[in-house]
Amino acid sequence: MIIAVDGPAAAGKGTIARALAKHYGFHFLDTGALYRMVGLAAIRSGGEPITATAAIAAARTLDPSSFVDADLRTEKVGAAASIVAVIPEVRAALLDFQRSFARKAPGAVLDGRDIGTVVCPDAHAKLFITASAEVRARRRQMELGASDYEAVLADIRARDARDSQRATAPLVAAQDAVTLDTSGMDIGEAVAAAVAVVEARRVP
Ligand code: DC
Repeated sequence: MIIAVDGPAAAGKGTIARALAKHYGFHFLDTGALYRMVGLAAIRSGGEPITATAAIAAARTLDPSSFVDADLRTEKVGAAASIVAVIPEVRAALLDFQRSFARKAPGAVLDGRDIGTVVCPDAHAKLFITASAEVRARRRQMELGASDYEAVLADIRARDARDSQRATAPLVAAQDAVTLDTSGMDIGEAVAAAVAVVEARRVP
């Protein structure tokens, strides 16, 4: 069984996807981490501003074991991920890995931007997790321990625009996805709502 969890930055999709994987005993893949690795590797090899050549080379030779999670979680690397994610060759280079991961038994949960639309259009359950930009900025500010709310909000809006407006695999809810707006929910409520959606689509 494949569960696709998509949505904008800081909407809670990572937390929900991890909780679903734990609940069902499925494998979990944070596909944003792959784009973050490519963004960071491109900066390390080619400097800034990131070039398409450095990003494509990084995606084609990606070695996930050479990254430390803390280095991937910064806002700078999140923005770098969103920049390299616009490049079709980068997306193509990461596609096979994501698709083979999705086929793992007994099931897999993948979170990202294009899982339900491009990576796994045949996923059994598709969730589109969203929340207002203001709520997401508050959550990201707390997570990063950042002092400047307006700067975090501006980063979130810039990332939304880049992720939604790119030509290849833009951030959009799949037609058969169920949208969950987590603006007014705590983590427990959001996870319970997500489990209810998956139960309705569950493969016996
Ligand atoms: O989910 P995240 O914040 O870790 O993702 C970082 C960036 O990677 C995001 O702004 C866009 C890109 N991304 C993507 O284009 N497709 C995915 N499936 C996952 C992430």
